[in-house]
Amino acid sequence: MRTKRTSLVNLIYFSRLSLAADAPTRARQVSEIAKHAQKKNEFAVITSFLILEGNFAVQIIEGERLSVNETFQRIAADARHRDVKIVEWREIIKRAFVTSFTTGIRGGTTEAHFSKAGLLPMLQRGTPKASTIHNLATTLQHDTMSKQGIDHLFG
Ligand SMILES: Cc1cc2nc3c(=O)[nH]c(=O)nc-3n(C[C@H](O)[C@H](O)[C@H](O)COP(=O)(O)O)c2cc1C
Repeated sequence: MRTKRTSLVNLIYFSRLSLAADAPTRARQVSEIAKHAQKKNEFAVITSFLILEGNFAVQIIEGERLSVNETFQRIAADARHRDVKIVEWREIIKRAFVTSFTTGIRGGTTEAHFSKAGLLPMLQRGTPKASTIHNLATTLQHDTMSKQGIDHLFG
C-alpha cells in the first residue's frame, strides 16, 4: 500500500522587481536571492521555478501547505519587489518542478519559448494566466534537463 502523502499545494504569484537598473548589479542581486532561497527551500522541501520577464518576477512554489504558506509570507514581505499578487493557489497531486530554486530568463535558447508564451503583455495588463506561467516554466525546465541528459528521468 502507498504511504499517505502530506497535502501538497502550488502557489503562483507575480510581482514587480525593485532591483538596480544596471545589469551587472541586478545580476548579482538576483543571484543573491537565488542562493539564499535555494538553501531555505531545500530545508523546507519546497520546489520552485522563478521566471524573470521584463521587470516582473513570476514564481511557482510547490510543497507542503504550511511550508508554502510560510515561505510566501516571507517572500511577500521582501522589499526587493513590490505589488506581489497571487495568481493561483491550489492543491496538487504531484510536483511539477524538480529543483528547490531555478531561474528562467529570456535570452539565447529560451528566447523562442518566452516569445511564444506571450507572458509579458499579460503581466503588463495585470492578468497573467496560471496555465501560461505553468507551461512556460515546465518548458524551460524540460529544456534544461534535456541539455543535462536527465529529462528521461522525469517523463
Ligand atoms: C523574487 C524573489 C523570489 C524569492 N523566492 C524565495 C524562495 O523561493 N524561498 C525563500 O525562502 N525565499 C525567497 N525569497 C527571499 C525571501 O523574500 C526572503 O528574503 C528570505 O526568505 C528571508 O530569509 P531569512 O528569513 O533567512 O532572512 C525571494 C525573494 C524575491 C525578491
